[in-house]
Amino acid sequence: METGKRTKVKELLNSTAYGSEVTVKGWVRTFRNNQFIAVNDGSTINNIQAVVDFANTDEALLKRLTTGAAISITGELIESLGKGQKVEVKVKQLEILGDSDAEKFPLQPKKHSLEFLREIAHLRFRTNTFNAVFKVRHALAFAVHQFFNERGFVYLHTPIITASDAEGAGEMFRVTTLDFNNTPRTEGGDVDYKQDFFGRSTNLTVSGQLEGELAAMALGEIYTFGPTFRAENSNTTRHLAEFWMIEPEVAFADLGDNMQLAEDLLKYVIAHAIKNCADELEFLKNRLLEEEKLKPQDERSELDLMAKLNFCLDNNFERLTYTEAIEILRNSNPNKKKKFKYLIDSWGADLQSEHERYLVEKHFKKPVILTDYPKDIKSFYMRMNDDGKTVAAMDILFPGIGEIVGGSQREERLNLLEKRMGEMHIPAEELYWYLDTRRFGTAPHAGFGLGFERLVLFVTGMTNIRDVIPFPRAPKTAEF
Ligand code: 4AD
Ligand code: MG
Repeated sequence: METGKRTKVKELLNSTAYGSEVTVKGWVRTFRNNQFIAVNDGSTINNIQAVVDFANTDEALLKRLTTGAAISITGELIESLGKGQKVEVKVKQLEILGDSDAEKFPLQPKKHSLEFLREIAHLRFRTNTFNAVFKVRHALAFAVHQFFNERGFVYLHTPIITASDAEGAGEMFRVTTLDFNNTPRTEGGDVDYKQDFFGRSTNLTVSGQLEGELAAMALGEIYTFGPTFRAENSNTTRHLAEFWMIEPEVAFADLGDNMQLAEDLLKYVIAHAIKNCADELEFLKNRLLEEEKLKPQDERSELDLMAKLNFCLDNNFERLTYTEAIEILRNSNPNKKKKFKYLIDSWGADLQSEHERYLVEKHFKKPVILTDYPKDIKSFYMRMNDDGKTVAAMDILFPGIGEIVGGSQREERLNLLEKRMGEMHIPAEELYWYLDTRRFGTAPHAGFGLGFERLVLFVTGMTNIRDVIPFPRAPKTAEF
């Protein structure tokens, strides 16, 4: 360790260079007995203890050692006699870099509720929980890129502003520079988007898939990983208006290849997190155990966080068709006893999250891949099966989460795709560029979308999606 240069807490906690002089910079978590400062610099959720010789330190300076203050300490690294830590720093020089008024600083050294922390989301990074969550989020993002890079996929940057609705669901945020108070109109009285910035009506992308398909039909294997936007008014613990999605697209692949790719990806990134985020996951596991103690016994999970993650790695995901799932649900206890909010009585019904969770958490007790959904509850681009009723779709359902992945084999046959677009009122002329992939050298291909925040939810054991993205965007929520 170089003298005078800042050493990160993470490094110091693993050091045995007793007697050497070190400099630590960080924020005060607590200051006890006028003597012990717990310093955190973000490099780890663990703090280093710095011990002040209070008899020989200016009292006014000691008073400024309040929770949240930024400090710089130089001193000797010594073996700690206290329990819970191997090393500590005997302070020689102490400098306050930034004061933090104890009366006004909203974070006190005690447990705050996640709801409260959401209201002060600009400060919540300073808690152990959010330090751990965002470290795990980082590790998962890194692992996603590593996974695809190892397999020769090209990372494709698809546009954020688009003129198309990739999902055909109409849940888009409009992008415009038109003046609301003086909107240009066509002769017919409609808003004249020809005069808008892009000369057409544009919106924030709901998915990079359509552009991804264009590239896959030349590069072979691509993936996107970027923000996507949905103006759906879903105030749930699983939905965001702005979320990150990973969308691979693979030429010459069918639904079976697609399912295998998704299962491999999920297992790879979860294994990476287990390997690289041991401290964070241990902390989050204990956090969850504490939280679950507040629940009645029968609502607590059978497995703790680590056991749940390992279980997911050790077991093959259960694969079954939508039709098989409907049979299971129809004959299930909650359906017979009318416990489901939406009762399953006939084939064709869309599955609600209560049904997905029943299949995963109660019936199979492991991740499930459902395939071959009725065409009417899925998007226009999915490949029609020979029965003419179902499409080659797949959704992966995870315990505690519900749908984490949605994907399909794509309809590569031009005539069938055009027919389906017509039936679903998707404007084929506007999507001429998409249809060109089917006109020139069409080939079977498949892909899926993995909701990144739902993945982070699963791995961290957090329960609200707003707590796994730094700045959540949801209905009436865009303050920070
Ligand atoms: O099922 P979705 O809508 O599929 C697509 O967008 C396809 N274009 C994907 C593809 O085939 N390339 O979304 C995919 C995943 C969902 O399974 C879910 O995990 C996540 O994205 N997701 C959301 N996550 C957070 N908030 C929302 N509002 C989400 N909507 C979808
Ligand atoms: Mg879906």
